[in-house]
Order: sequence, then C-alpha cells, then structure tokens
Amino acid sequence: MLFLYKYCLLVTNNFVLTCTEKEEKRIRKQPAMSSSYFILLCSADSLRILRLISFFTLLLSSSNCSANVGSDVRKAPRQLSVDFYAKSCPQVDQLVASVTSAQFRESPVSAPATIRLFFHDCFVDGCDASILISTAPGSKELTERDADDNKDLAMEAFDSINKAKALVETKCPGVVSCADILAMAARDFVHLTGGPYYQVKKGRWDGKLSMASRVAPNIPHSNSTINDLIKIFSSKGLTIDDLVVLSGAHTIGFSHCKHFVDRLYDFKGSKQSDPTMDPRLLKALKLSCPKFGGNNDIVAPFDVTTPFSFDNAYYGNLVSKLGLLSSDQALASDSRTMPLVQALAKDKQKFIQAFAAAMDKMGSIGIKRGRKHGEIRRDCSVHV
Ligand code: HEM
Repeated sequence: MLFLYKYCLLVTNNFVLTCTEKEEKRIRKQPAMSSSYFILLCSADSLRILRLISFFTLLLSSSNCSANVGSDVRKAPRQLSVDFYAKSCPQVDQLVASVTSAQFRESPVSAPATIRLFFHDCFVDGCDASILISTAPGSKELTERDADDNKDLAMEAFDSINKAKALVETKCPGVVSCADILAMAARDFVHLTGGPYYQVKKGRWDGKLSMASRVAPNIPHSNSTINDLIKIFSSKGLTIDDLVVLSGAHTIGFSHCKHFVDRLYDFKGSKQSDPTMDPRLLKALKLSCPKFGGNNDIVAPFDVTTPFSFDNAYYGNLVSKLGLLSSDQALASDSRTMPLVQALAKDKQKFIQAFAAAMDKMGSIGIKRGRKHGEIRRDCSVHV
C-alpha cells in the first residue's frame, strides 16, 4: 500500500517543507544543508515529490518569502544573580555547556525542544522545573509533563536536562537546582542555533508541586487571540512587546499539523482557509496536512525560510503572510503588535538584544527561594 507515512523533506537555501519528526532529526544532522538543493526522500511516492519540487521552485522564484532577510509575578521577582554559584559551583555554566553542545551535535532537535520546555515550565507556576517531575507509577494525579499541552514536548529536551544535571551532580552534589540548569540549557541552545549568548541569573529553587491541571489555563494556544495572548503574558508580568519578542523563538522548531490545520480548511468555522495565509504556503501545507487521514507525526517548520537559524526571519515571514500558527500570524495584523513585528523584521540586532532581555524576564517568573517553597532535587524527575 502506498501511503505517505514517511514524508519527504525538501530543503533549499531558503525553504523547508515538512517532514516526520524522525526525518527532521536526520536532516538537521546534515552539515551540508545550506548548499543549493538538498532533497531527502523517504518513502513518499516520487510523483508527489516532483510536484513538491516544482511547487517550491515556483514559490521560491515568485515570492519574497526569504524575508529580507497570573499572577505569577505580581510580587517583585525574588533576587537572582549571575554569580549565585560562584563559591558552591563556579564551573556550573561550563558543565552545562559541555552537555548542551554535545547534545546539539548529536540531536539538534534538542535546541527548539529545550527552549520550549523552559517556556512551558516558566508559564506554569514559575520557572521551578515542575515540568520535569514524572507522574508516580500508578498515581492518578498527573504531573505537568503529562498534561495534554505538554505531550508534544520532545524527549530530547528532558534528556538534555537530565544529562546536564547528572554531570553537575558529580562536581557539585546537591547544590544546583534543576530550574537553573533548565534556564542555562535554554540559553545555550539559543546561542548554539545562532541567537544571542546572555548571562543567566541563577538562584531558583525547584518547585514542590507539579499538577497537570495547572497547565491548560497558563499555556497559550495556537488559536489564542491577541487579547488572550496579551492577558496570559500580562498575568506573568510580561508586556505586549515581550509577547512579540518571545514569540520570535518560533524562528526555529516545528509544529504538528493539528496546531494549524484549521487554518487550512475551516478557519474559525468558516469552512474556508485563513485569508491571512499566503496562498502558496496554504497549498504547500495542504499537501502535508490533509483534512482527513493525515499522519499525526508530520511537522512543518515555523520559519519557512531559515528554520535552523535563530534569526529575525520569523518576523519577515509574518509580514509576508507566511506565519504558521494563527497566533503567530495575528501578531502582524493587530495594531498593538504590528509595529514591533515590522521593526524586528528589519533589524536583526534589535531582535537579538530584545530576545536576550525578554528571556531573562521570562526566566524570573514565579521564582521560589528557600525550603518553605522549594527544594533542590538530585534527580530532576522526582521530588526530594
Ligand atoms: C505566544 C504564544 C505561543 C503559542 C500559542 C505557542 C504555541 C506553540 C505550538 C502549538 C508549538 C508546536 C508544538 C508541536 O506541535 O510540537 C510550539 C512550538 C515551539 N514553541 Fe511556542 N508558542 C508560543 C510562545 C512561545 C514562546 C514564548 C517560546 C519560547 C520563548 C516558544 C518556543 C517554541 C519553540 C522553540 C517551539 C518548537 C518546538 C520544537 O520544534 O520541538 N513558544 N509553540
């Protein structure tokens, strides 16, 4: 039987279509990815692949898609500091870096996965590594990581943190929190993919609670409106500008079809596709994500122009109607967010600086300090 279980990934200098997660991992390991055409064929039928190739040739030649390029923090965040472990574990940044760089070489998907893991940790009751806790065997009380909104979080992200923690424990046992390790690892992966290197402030304690029921109300969704997004970000002490800047993390990484399929076939119950999506992108995505019977593993890149580099192309794409999620594209049309989207599309340096500052701010959400509210875990997946 011929069905598109494994899809194909087509990469050119400027454009990537879709792939299964497995293929995505393979392709991301290719060092020669950037040279002219690079086509990876899986078990898709060749006719379809040829159609895709001609489609993308058309798209590339005719488009300018290369994009010119809660309340958690109502109280002032408790003090974190860059040199928090200066005496107790002075080499902690280097220890984490040695793991993240090896992990990135071995499995580049760890980069977007870990950055997203950090975001999902911070937004649900603060940056306290509560997302790393495993549900106890046989327990009916699911932890955050088993909540529906976290099911897509890639294993590679958890692996990176566990490996980094294991190494840090050999040198500085019982000293460095999992929450700090996650913050440092996310920073490293931003840098490894071409984004800024910034100093991570430390001193977070790990959380004592992790409840799946806390996730959905605190995590924005792909169909959230700008009002929803602003509300949720502001409940974390983050501004509208922070929302725009942090969404720039979607300059790398991939999304499963289910998060944008409504835009292709039935946007807001209209039985029509989303008029704010470029028709050529719409057509391409429809090929990968059929209305019925699609493969749940298929993913599409957020940034269709430079999906592996942490740059400002995401914003240029939004201006060109090439955003993937409805929540991404909406940033380019709302008067409260559009000016910054346009400014960041034109100015990579501005994005790089603003992103580093916004990550620092996000990393300060809901910080716990001391034994009353926190713990320092030795194994990030279980409470002390
Ligand atoms: C503004 C609201 C946001 C919404 C609605 C949103 C939604 C999503 C969705 C639906 C996915 C795809 C998940 C999948 O299919 O596997 C995703 C992926 C991702 N998100 Fe967001 N996100 C938002 C903000 C953020 C922020 C603030 C960050 C980090 C600072 C972030 C980082 C990422 C990354 C890096 C990925 C790619 C993950 C991967 O490829 O493994 N997102 N996001």
